[in-house]
Order: sequence, then structure tokens, then C-alpha cells
Amino acid sequence: MKPKIFVTRRIPQPALDRLSGEFEIELNEADRVLTKEEILKGTKNCDVLLCLLTDTIDEEIIKVNPKLKGIANYAVGYNNIDIEIATNLKIPVSNTPGVLTQTTADLTWSLILSVSRRIVESDCYAREGKFTGWGPMLLLGNDIFGKTLGIIGAGRIGTAVAERAFGFKMKILYTDNKINKNIETNLGATKLELNELLGQSDFITLHIPLNEYTNHLITKNELKLMKDSAIIINTSRGQIIKEKDLIKALQDNEISGAGLDVYEFEPKISKGLKKLKNVIILPHIGSATIETRTAMGMLATNNAIAMVKGKKPENIVNPQIYKKTDSKESA
Ligand code: GLV
Ligand code: GLV
Repeated sequence: MKPKIFVTRRIPQPALDRLSGEFEIELNEADRVLTKEEILKGTKNCDVLLCLLTDTIDEEIIKVNPKLKGIANYAVGYNNIDIEIATNLKIPVSNTPGVLTQTTADLTWSLILSVSRRIVESDCYAREGKFTGWGPMLLLGNDIFGKTLGIIGAGRIGTAVAERAFGFKMKILYTDNKINKNIETNLGATKLELNELLGQSDFITLHIPLNEYTNHLITKNELKLMKDSAIIINTSRGQIIKEKDLIKALQDNEISGAGLDVYEFEPKISKGLKKLKNVIILPHIGSATIETRTAMGMLATNNAIAMVKGKKPENIVNPQIYKKTDSKESA
């Protein structure tokens, strides 16, 4: 019998083609998120689970199949998987880092430009037939060139966002647990404490993973520290911002705008956000290019193949499972 890989939703064909022949693929052919029951059923009968960020892979799912050889997530973020449980059971989990870095940085910049120059609002205005000629006060936005960009999380994506800011001659500030020598030396970036960065930046952009420390990192207190002309961009995970507080800050003009690709209650987008003109709301398309989604598929299938064969996948998220000197489950 061929080893079986359960793919919870269609991903680009070249990635699926890599699996065919040597492996049996169980694929969700419907273009929708599977229910928990469906994921349980598929996971029970497979060797490796290839899942998406919209699949919540909890303890029950991970434990449904004692022979499960791995979980390959088709995303760089892996907050949808209970990593602690997988690690305790010595089940490898992989993600797709690197390949979506530039694509996500591009989308971040699309939002920076679009919010500050009121692009979506202007397009609607023109389509609605309201454009009767050039106007000296028509749809004035704000400059980007020469302003201050505050990057929260200077990892791969944060760095790629900073590189683009160089062309706009922006002052670059960042927060991170580590010093990022590359952007300090090459782009003149300065590392600050979060509160200082919030107070000094014209644009604030989030590039950190969601975890217990970053959940609700941005609440009304942080929003109060921002300039009233500040624009906040989120292409990471929605739960990092307390959405209720963001809506209030936008309504009260405590900040000037927001560009969002992700939501606290995703896929639900709070009504309050949809009513605001100074917000651009996108349906989580950070990595959505043909090239990048194909590359993510290749990484995810490579990782899945390694795990089927009992090898360490290239993009392992919980490498500690391979440590021999492991003491009892203490995490
Ligand atoms: C997208 O949000 C990802 O984590 O890949
Ligand atoms: C994610 O890929 C990051 O490190 O920014």
C-alpha cells in the first residue's frame, strides 16, 4: 500500500503532482474549509496531514491517529496547530518559511501606499461617477516619502518591508527580541522599545507570529501612544490587535487609518471596521500570488514526503522532538 497524504484543500497542481505516483493523495475537492469531523476522519486514515492555516489542528485531531507521522502546514504561521501536544507525542510539524517573505512585504507596502493615498476610496469615488474634474482639495492623503516607519518584528518579512522603505527615504525604527545588524548597517534602522516606536512612527506595521506573548499586543493603551496621524498595517495575524480597541481609536480619530489583511475573528470582519472609510480591508491575501502559493506547495509537499519517510523535514517547527537526551515530557 502506498503511504497516504491527506490534503485538506486544493493547493497548486505542481505541488500535488510531486505526490502522485509514489503516494496516495486524499484531497478535499470542494473549495471550502473542512469541518472538524471531516478532518478527524481524514487524519485517522493517513500517514501525513497536509493542512492549512484555516484548519484548527487540536489535541483531538492530533491524537486520533497514533500512527500519524507528521503535520505539514501550508503557511509560515503555525498558530493553528497545537504544537505542544504534537511535540509531546514526537510528531514533527513543518511550515513554509522564506518563500512568502517578499510577497507579503509587497502586500504590506500595497497597504501602506493605499491607505495613505486613499486609493480604494478614490477608485470608488471615480466609479460612482463623482469625478467632475481636478479639485485642489479632492481626496488629499498623506506623504510617505521621508516619513518614519515602525516595524514590529524585524524577522524575514519585517526586513523585506524595511528594504522597500529605503527607496522612500524613510526613517526606519524596529522592535525585536534580537538586534538586526543587517537593517541597522544597511538601512540605518534603529531598535527601540515598543512604546517609543509607537510614539515616533508615522506608519506602524506588524511582522510577528501569534503566540501567548503577542496576543493583543496592541490594545487601547498602545493605540493611545501613537500619533493621531499614524497608520497601522497588519499582515501578520489578526489577534495581535484587539479589534474592538482599534475600531474605537479609528472612530475617535486617535489614529488616522489602518490597512488590514487579517482579523481577530477571522474570517469574520467586525461591522465597525467595514463602516470606516479610513480602513482598507483585504481577505488575507498576503501570500496570494501564483508564484508564491506554488512555492509554498512545493515546500509543504517536500516536508510531507520527508515525514512519510521518517526523515526530519527541512522546515521543522519543533526540532526538539529529534533530541535523543530528551527528559520526560516537561513542557
Ligand atoms: C499566511 O498567513 C501564512 O502564515 O502563511
Ligand atoms: C516570517 O517568515 C518572518 O520571519 O518574518
